[in-house]
Amino acid sequence: MNIPKVISITSGKGGVGKTNSAINIALKIQEKGYKVLVIDADLGLANVNIMFNITPKKTILDLLKDNCSIKDVLVEVPGGIKILPASSGIFSIVNLTDEENLKLLNNFEALNELFDYIIIDTAAGIGKDVLFFNSISHFVTVIVTPEPTSITDAYATIKVLNKESKIKDFKIIINQVSSSDEGKSVYNSLYKVSSQFLNVSLEYLGHIVYDKALLKSVLSQMPVVLYSPESPSSVCFNSIASRFIDRLTKISQTGNIQLFWEKMLRNANF
Ligand SMILES: Nc1ncnc2c1ncn2[C@@H]1O[C@H](COP(=O)(O)OP(=O)(O)O)[C@@H](O)[C@H]1O
Ligand SMILES: [Mg+2]
Repeated sequence: MNIPKVISITSGKGGVGKTNSAINIALKIQEKGYKVLVIDADLGLANVNIMFNITPKKTILDLLKDNCSIKDVLVEVPGGIKILPASSGIFSIVNLTDEENLKLLNNFEALNELFDYIIIDTAAGIGKDVLFFNSISHFVTVIVTPEPTSITDAYATIKVLNKESKIKDFKIIINQVSSSDEGKSVYNSLYKVSSQFLNVSLEYLGHIVYDKALLKSVLSQMPVVLYSPESPSSVCFNSIASRFIDRLTKISQTGNIQLFWEKMLRNANF
């Protein structure tokens, strides 16, 4: 049975580049021959549907209604990836009747056959739904920018995810840097403070440069890897996508991949 590999994209602070990272990395993984779903769990202003200039008609919660299947909720966007719009009411999932629970599980199980990778664009911070989406992911990825507030907020987020959701391994991406050296130096400061005070393990997945083409792509409502495939940030997204595939292929070979939706249901009681 196919088990999708699940990556969450999270951050302490808003506006650091989560949505852009989620969709551009998703598109680059898809370009390498995989089927990719993005779950839009960030209801901030610049969310996934705005990035693609689409208006989804249904969300995960519509799956509880009769005559609505997962295929009615998935939206295909340019580049060939699919989007699953979530909703702020996602936590009503924890109070479902047995019948509703089963309906949801059956729909989610259909995703196993449809996708190789699932990327979750979470909201910023440490709300209950952010903890939930991170706890069902194989790789929790924190996006950080060089701003001091972004670094301290990333540290605080890692601390809470570790304490509340028992997450120990974090992937780190540094966004909006001027050079790879700046990326490494920002990562090193986060690594230093985290390894000193927390029992977590961080891995640096790379940097994304500050790129005017990305700004223009946002205004054009088209992801930068489609809008300007050779731009500096597109090259960075491509390297990061390759690293995700490499790392996730390794863990699936060691049998360490758990079934996403099963884990979700087990976690649904917190
Ligand atoms: N690498 C980058 N280069 C230039 N601008 C960026 C970059 N990453 C993000 N931005 C700017 O930051 C804004 C917020 O990015 P977004 O991905 O929506 O953040 P989040 O989802 O974390 O709120 C973008 O609309 C863009 O203007
Ligand atoms: Mg966002």
